[in-house]
Amino acid sequence: QETSRTNVVGDKFRFTRVRKITECGGFLGNSPQLVRTPHVIVMVGLPARGKTYISKKLMRYLNWIGVNTRVFNVGDYRRKACVSACYQSNDFFSVDNEEAQTLRNQAAVEALEDMCHWLEDDGEVGIYDATNTTRERRKMLHNIITVKYGYKVLFVESVCNDPAVVESNIMEVKVNSPDYKGADPEFVVKDFCERIEHYKRAYEPIDEKLDSTYSFIKLFDVGEKFLVNKVTDHIMAKIVYYLMNIHITPRTIYLTRHGESDFNMDGKIGGDSDLTERGQQYAQALAKYVEEQNVPHMRVWTSHMKRTIQTGASIEGTQERWKALNEIDAGVCEEMTYQDIEKKFPQEFALRDQNKFRYRYPGGESYEDLVARLEPVIMELERQGNIMVISHQAVIRCLLAYFLDKDYDELPYLTCPLHTVLKLTPTAMGCIVEQITFNIGCANTHRPKPTSPNGTYSNDDSGNLTTR
Ligand code: ATP
Ligand code: F6P
Repeated sequence: QETSRTNVVGDKFRFTRVRKITECGGFLGNSPQLVRTPHVIVMVGLPARGKTYISKKLMRYLNWIGVNTRVFNVGDYRRKACVSACYQSNDFFSVDNEEAQTLRNQAAVEALEDMCHWLEDDGEVGIYDATNTTRERRKMLHNIITVKYGYKVLFVESVCNDPAVVESNIMEVKVNSPDYKGADPEFVVKDFCERIEHYKRAYEPIDEKLDSTYSFIKLFDVGEKFLVNKVTDHIMAKIVYYLMNIHITPRTIYLTRHGESDFNMDGKIGGDSDLTERGQQYAQALAKYVEEQNVPHMRVWTSHMKRTIQTGASIEGTQERWKALNEIDAGVCEEMTYQDIEKKFPQEFALRDQNKFRYRYPGGESYEDLVARLEPVIMELERQGNIMVISHQAVIRCLLAYFLDKDYDELPYLTCPLHTVLKLTPTAMGCIVEQITFNIGCANTHRPKPTSPNGTYSNDDSGNLTTR
């Protein structure tokens, strides 16, 4: 992508960015451009209200849908600025501590400048993660971001007055904060609560009337209620919708591919074949595994393909079918082996290796198309509790990339073997993944990335099917 700047003459001197959309030839497709003017999400709220959690999660989602997003956490800048005088106690946050106030302001300015410069390069959404609890601070940020840089601002405020939630947040994340390295958890809770009191003295929540000119969303009590104002474009609407769907109730997400199919055995891609005998064994073993997990209210999602429906059939739980979970459509290459494709369509085969994420099969789909098709699945996954998703190699790669924050280079090559369950447990700052491998032999359908510049493969990487 190239970026150029155009001056727009108006009441005030402003910069507006014009981005050139890169044209790709062949079947490498055009990536959709969701954001034209860069946006800044300004987080607002008292400490331990989930601002960093929301920022990181939102960044992961936006990057996954193709919007270049980065979080700028002012706390990190403050810690870097104070290396010599490390954090002693909450007194650092007292309004009377002038020296500390100066350091905090410096950190805030530095993070803001870095973010705006990054947005001038190729950033699309910057998330400014700080408390921003006073109206004066928000006005200053809004002015700099919109007037000096010509970017758009969306304020995201998290309000939570339930002491139990706040204390659990402190215990979950603040005891491990670099501010409290080696400190006793009891001291951390007490000190952090006092830190919150300092902020409360100056806190001015976003007000429906006083701040009516701003674009904002206020989240109350971890998503119990929302107040949304002036959502003026597509990307803001997407962000607001996402924030209205996420929750923090503990749950487990299981991802698996279907059991081995006849086509897997033959090395053919796509199609709608049945499970092999070993595939059926996996279906039985999977049902037993789920039973042993003893997870309440389990939902089982499959695609519309026979092989996923057969794999999930014996699992206890609500069964739902999603067309969006169907495997990548390989178009003219459906039901062929990789070797057949290489022989019959050598140019196509080589093109796919050049950019596997963007490459669209003639008459079929690309991984990029898949991500777009899977967005409603991700949104629904965010809303739900315990789920087992039974799908296909390319689809599972896309879903996994969302949870593990993998980029588009890595995504189409993620290893998702047959007869394996990926157990995902969302945590305060990410996701724990456990890989459960079942001892039932199966075909290996993974075709790794070419290892040499001319696109050849090492012996192991030949793409031939091997049996485990
Ligand atoms: P600080 O201002 O000190 O950086 P913070 O507001 O950024 O604090 P986080 O560090 O993000 O707070 O707190 C993480 C905790 O917040 C996690 O335990 C997470 O489950 C919880 N959490 C996530 N979303 C919300 C929400 N909307 N309201 C309250 N807590 C939330
Ligand atoms: O081989 C099994 C399969 O699910 C095919 O149906 C699909 O085309 C392929 O995997 C996707 O993997 P890749 O993108 O690596 O070709």
